[in-house]
Amino acid sequence: MCGIVGYCGPKRVVPVILEGLRRLEYRGYDSAGIVYLEDDKLVKFRAEGKLANLETRIDDAIVAPAHIGLGHTRWATHGAPTEENAHPHSDCTGDLVVVHNGIIENYHSLREELKAKGHVFTSETDTEVLAHLIEEHLENDLPKAVREAVKHVEGSFALGVLWAKNPDTLVAARNQSPLVLGVSDDIGSFMASDIPALLPYTNQVIFLEDREMAVLTADSYTITSLDTGEVVDKVVQFIEWNAAMAEKAGYKHFMLKEIYEQPQAITNTLSGRINPETGEVTIPEINFTGKDLESIDRIFLVACGTSWHAALVAKYWIEKYARIPVEVDIASEFRYRNLLIDERVMTISISQSGETADTLAGIRLAKQLGSKVITICNVVGSTMTREADGTVYTHAGPEIGVASTKAFTAQLVALFLMTLYFAQQKKTITAEKSIELGRAILDISTTIDNELPRIQNQISTLIESFYDSKDFLFVGRGLSYPIALEGALKLKEISYIHAEGYASGELKHGPIALIDKDMPILALVPQDAVYQKSISNVEEIKARQGRLILIGTAGDDHLQNITDDIVYMPKVHEDMNPILYTIPAQLLSYEIATRRGCDVDQPRNLAKSVTVE
Ligand code: G6P
Repeated sequence: MCGIVGYCGPKRVVPVILEGLRRLEYRGYDSAGIVYLEDDKLVKFRAEGKLANLETRIDDAIVAPAHIGLGHTRWATHGAPTEENAHPHSDCTGDLVVVHNGIIENYHSLREELKAKGHVFTSETDTEVLAHLIEEHLENDLPKAVREAVKHVEGSFALGVLWAKNPDTLVAARNQSPLVLGVSDDIGSFMASDIPALLPYTNQVIFLEDREMAVLTADSYTITSLDTGEVVDKVVQFIEWNAAMAEKAGYKHFMLKEIYEQPQAITNTLSGRINPETGEVTIPEINFTGKDLESIDRIFLVACGTSWHAALVAKYWIEKYARIPVEVDIASEFRYRNLLIDERVMTISISQSGETADTLAGIRLAKQLGSKVITICNVVGSTMTREADGTVYTHAGPEIGVASTKAFTAQLVALFLMTLYFAQQKKTITAEKSIELGRAILDISTTIDNELPRIQNQISTLIESFYDSKDFLFVGRGLSYPIALEGALKLKEISYIHAEGYASGELKHGPIALIDKDMPILALVPQDAVYQKSISNVEEIKARQGRLILIGTAGDDHLQNITDDIVYMPKVHEDMNPILYTIPAQLLSYEIATRRGCDVDQPRNLAKSVTVE
């Protein structure tokens, strides 16, 4: 969703902001803008579409001797993605500008009130009311005016504000939308929606909490409560990621790079958490004893999108090994249903970003109802990690491609570790089983590493006969069912092909009516506990002339009687199949999307971090 970058300091501001916005492109946006202060005047450029459009307008400004400014990428919510609606938005004088991420829910009534007072609006956005509202309260103290203005605002915001009459100062404020400050000894102060924008300049960050405001100058920062005005002491955190981790490193797309980074992401997520001899898992971040777990009747897994698919896989694992009943919920449904949750329920949120608005609302609700809340998250210090009772970090590194890949497999690994941990603490598995499962998860990264190039080569040839299809089915049973859902989601996200994932056994209850010779169907058929059943379903598809692509186990010659389009995967422990079979599903989507000329890293209409409901 929207990206904010602000800077004040000795560097020239325009390149700093453009570089920051480029690093936030992954969040998804459809217009962009920048403002800086030069000779006491605000200079503003805005453009529809990609950053490149904005850059062509501001060629000369790159060299402007300006040292304070704000930039924004907008993901349209109120008003079309036009230049007029792009941020920054100005007040009536043109001396005050605002960039905003979030939604001002009462913007309509505020707008009417402000218009009645004579304010003139030039856009259809909810954001513009903020500029006029601050103007309304502005005498000579910008922070005070911002504090007064937001008292009237309902909804979510991350704000950056600049006033030409206060030329050394940026004001940042946050309520339910992410905003992080970057601080340094000698290169100035920064604000941004996410850490990658800061990495070229500083690793020292401060996460603003809800209803906090920061006043930044080149060499100082002060953080206060928006409500009381009192100064808040904040901890400066050191981020271990570096700027190069957020670069393409010779790959054509971030998505492909991130697919290839999965073995490392898996290894990092396992690192220090599992004893290779005994399979014993330690997760100090959550530290439950067997006795604590005895008091848990049920686990709720709450997530959105790809993370929800990780939850679906985890249900199979946790119920099988830790013997705890698991419910899986899409966060936007979870938060509005009548939940039967109390202190005997553990809620686990799964989120690569830790900022997804629905998931965040879900865990807040679960906490209110007395549940213990654990989050599985990839972004250190993100809102979810700060609000949960404990966090199990995935260590996938920054994920820039909008379609989640390495964050997903790292989530699966973290969830498998948690399964083992719960099972070991509750003693629902034997020592031998711990060793077996520990070995299985420890071996999977090497297997994937060895197979990735072969799988990609094979798939890139295979897709030639169906990359231009209009529809696609993905089917699987048991642990492969959520991976079928994930495969279908990946394909629709980045290639815009209509794709559905189904449990193979469910085909005959409707989707089988879709099957004819033009319908490609990818079937995941590993030799697992439900193999024979999966093969029967595949035969039903074949009987109706569906164009089958099979992903199965190396050595399974029977598959050749069904189709020529087979990608064989090495035989691994049955419980590792969801991790392994994700790889061909990702690569199939990637190869089809690039063959169709799609923008795989920034697919249309999608955002990486969905910070509005
Ligand atoms: C967006 C992203 C997806 C992601 C989902 C949930 O839709 O495009 O890739 O799976 O949000 O995000 P989260 O950060 O909570 O995992």
